Amino acid sequence: MIVLSLLAFLAIDFSTQVKPVLDQQCAACHDRAFYLRKKDKLVASIGLPATAKGAMPPGGPQLNAKDRATLTTWVGEGMVFPEATKALADDLGLAKILRAQIVKGSKERSAAQMKPYKAIIPGTDVPYEMVPIPAGKYLMGDDTHSKDEAPQHPVSVEAFWMAPREVTWNEYRLFMFASLAGEDPGANITIDAVSRPTKPYVEMSFGMGIEGFPAISMTHHAANKYAQWLSAKTGHFYRLPTEAEWEYACKANAPEPAELGEVAVFKANSKGQYNLVGTKKPNAFGLFDMLGNVMEWTTDQYYADAYQDPKAWYPSKTSYPHTARGGSWSDVAERVRCAARFPSDASWKLQDPNLPKSIWYHTDALGLGFRLIRPLKIPTAEEMHAYWNNGVAEDQ
Ligand code: HEC
Repeated sequence: MIVLSLLAFLAIDFSTQVKPVLDQQCAACHDRAFYLRKKDKLVASIGLPATAKGAMPPGGPQLNAKDRATLTTWVGEGMVFPEATKALADDLGLAKILRAQIVKGSKERSAAQMKPYKAIIPGTDVPYEMVPIPAGKYLMGDDTHSKDEAPQHPVSVEAFWMAPREVTWNEYRLFMFASLAGEDPGANITIDAVSRPTKPYVEMSFGMGIEGFPAISMTHHAANKYAQWLSAKTGHFYRLPTEAEWEYACKANAPEPAELGEVAVFKANSKGQYNLVGTKKPNAFGLFDMLGNVMEWTTDQYYADAYQDPKAWYPSKTSYPHTARGGSWSDVAERVRCAARFPSDASWKLQDPNLPKSIWYHTDALGLGFRLIRPLKIPTAEEMHAYWNNGVAEDQ
């Protein structure tokens, strides 16, 4: 009898002991990929008094002693999820599995086969579109404005598809809330494995509108993870554009617009908030709102002197700064130009009510959004992993 209960105490049972605690106390905000990533922090976070900074659940009440002991034992035993619900980690291994799906799911092998397409995000009724952007050469930068845009220099860009519109809340909220996307935990282990945002504490549209409006205030990490999530759902490879690709798509081998107000939502015509996506004239590639409405994340780390020795891609080394492009509804015309560069900054989450500050939301960047591209050439799993994980999710 004694031996039996001792055994029962030593080997924790996931489904009857651990899962109920996670489901009731943590699942509203976290998923399995998160627990695995935060393995080393979990025991400390539930041990803190309810009012302490970083205490989980945030703001209390603290878990009772039995539940704390259950989770602590489970972590001590290696944080094992039973076979049936075994989680994949969001690592290079996942990128390899996703790449195999992507190679199978992507039929186009040459530029001639690239067509515009409209697709529904699987499991939902939310559509998104992509249009082909031909390979080409152009002059990147501008010698007549800010120093970080000079010198102007020739750049070659390979073919890709780009979303004609900024990612809307209709799309982005499916990623924020798995239940809205009709996802059952455990039903698709690769989708489950992609890290997802924690629930925000504030209403993220700040009253500016949701239906058809651009998603805003996501961190660089969050935009990358959205790209990975959409890739896992659709079997196509999506990522943020590089600065070089973004500027090429914005300039579109065409002269600058004579009347900025015809193509862009900016300070002079925005009425003090973002507008619906796609209400102005598209550019020569058929892209809406490249200028204005919301500025858009690129994948690149920002270097003010990048054009002294230009590279095709500047992978992340630190959390800040990354480059956003295009200017927003709150910017004056001078900043709403294809060549203008916007370095991100830690102050973009100054007012974040989360403790510790969330890795998902830039609560002070109400003019910041993104759109995705899909390169024709499918990259290696290592490259995919590097695009989707800037490796610097936490503030440094
Ligand atoms: C109401 C939402 C909410 C609930 C419920 C919640 N958390 Fe959290 N948790 C957060 C937020 C917000 C953060 C901040 C970091 C982030 O966004 O990634 C966080 C961070 C963490 C971290 C990382 C701490 C660090 O130092 O990096 C761990 C571990 C964690 N939570 C575990 C738990 C566990 C275990 C539970 C259940 C007992 C739980 N959380 C319940 C919202 C929540």
